[in-house]
Amino acid sequence: MRWTVLTLICCSWTAHGLIRIPLRQMLSVRTQLRASNRLEDFMRDHQPDVFNRRYAQCYPPGIPSLRLGKSSERLYNFMDAQYYGLISLGTPKQNFTVVFDTGSSDLWVPSSYCVSEACAMHRKFKAFESSTFTHDGRMFGIHYGKGHMLGIMGREVLKIGPLTVKNQEFGESVYEPGFVFVMAKFDGVLGLGYPSLAEELGTPVFDSIMNQKSVDQPIFSFYLNKSKMPRDPEGELLLGGMDEALYSGPINWNPVTLKSYWQIKMSSIQVQGALTFCPRGCQAIVDTGTSLIIGPNRDILALQQLIGATPTSIGEYLIDCARISSLPQVTITLNGVEYVLTAESYVKRELMGDHEICFSGFQGEDLHSSTDPLWILGDVFLSDYYSIYDRGQDRVGFAKARHTRYATLDAEMDS
Ligand SMILES: *[C@@H]1O[C@H](CO)[C@@H](O)[C@H](O)[C@H]1NC(C)=O
Ligand SMILES: *[C@@H]1O[C@H](CO)[C@@H](O)[C@H](O)[C@H]1NC(C)=O
Repeated sequence: MRWTVLTLICCSWTAHGLIRIPLRQMLSVRTQLRASNRLEDFMRDHQPDVFNRRYAQCYPPGIPSLRLGKSSERLYNFMDAQYYGLISLGTPKQNFTVVFDTGSSDLWVPSSYCVSEACAMHRKFKAFESSTFTHDGRMFGIHYGKGHMLGIMGREVLKIGPLTVKNQEFGESVYEPGFVFVMAKFDGVLGLGYPSLAEELGTPVFDSIMNQKSVDQPIFSFYLNKSKMPRDPEGELLLGGMDEALYSGPINWNPVTLKSYWQIKMSSIQVQGALTFCPRGCQAIVDTGTSLIIGPNRDILALQQLIGATPTSIGEYLIDCARISSLPQVTITLNGVEYVLTAESYVKRELMGDHEICFSGFQGEDLHSSTDPLWILGDVFLSDYYSIYDRGQDRVGFAKARHTRYATLDAEMDS
């Protein structure tokens, strides 16, 4: 019925301007495991190989595990994910919390047909209760760092804040293996990467938003608030532009070098003049779904030594909290602009009972890349620098984020 389509196009044209999606910061799976003294056991039991073998025989019958070969390897696991927001699917609305993830391009939530333990702990999508659900029939599989997820595709009305996206393709997971998703505070993931990164030939959410012309500009931006307390406010995803109140100074732009992840060129990483990584340049992925800054194992090892971080038996790097003020700055150069991270920014603090423990915000992982060495700029970087993702001009912008803590200082410096 052509007229229906026209009606939809007509009404979503109303200029929404900027759409603000509040983000909440919640305890990561890692933090929860640590607090309950289960982290070491978990890390020992869930080495990726062991994990995959253990669960391989548990896939639902009739789904050839070969299909999984098709899915791309996700660059990280969601153990450290912290920032979530609310969406709804269906008519009437069914609510879900999702990670807004620039490092993937799919939207998925747990299905009511899922019997995995992880699904039992989360809100599940009930297709039969929605009058707007369209069955698709295709299966999908997503390989996350520490497990495979399986599901079926469908189409639904998606609501993000005041915005309505019609006919959005999404996945309902019918099988969510492993413990990470059991403990996760989020129900699903909403990917904001390029379409080529999507598991199925679906249209990613922001592409639907652009196609339906629901935003004035093909731009979204992230503000991740820094707070000491896990339950403070938090952050904001802005669809349709950026908010000058949340950053100061100019926006520095970086062209996207490969339209899949939000991948850009990184000129170098320097530790207070002492050591320079990727002197001939490398690539960096800007990833809101990753918590730390990730780089090649060899480089990160040298960096950890330089900041006096000591390894634990499970591959984390501890830092003496008392030494934070004396640690060197780390300077990341992108497109001729220096981004300085102080130890206050790159050290992660966690409360264990009544004492504080400190961790390095850098993590080693050799990522497959056909080009230069690959780094990931996660929340450690993105909470210091407001990030702007421009699909119109295929570029990522950064500006100094304005945090309440610094607002007074900024004002004083401006005057
Ligand atoms: C969904 O979330 C909104 C916003 O928090 C809330 O007002 C509404 O009651 C929720 N709906 C359901 C069914 O939980
Ligand atoms: C950031 O956090 C501070 C307190 O930690 C709060 O006062 C401020 O409103 C927050 N900003 C935003 C935009 O959420």
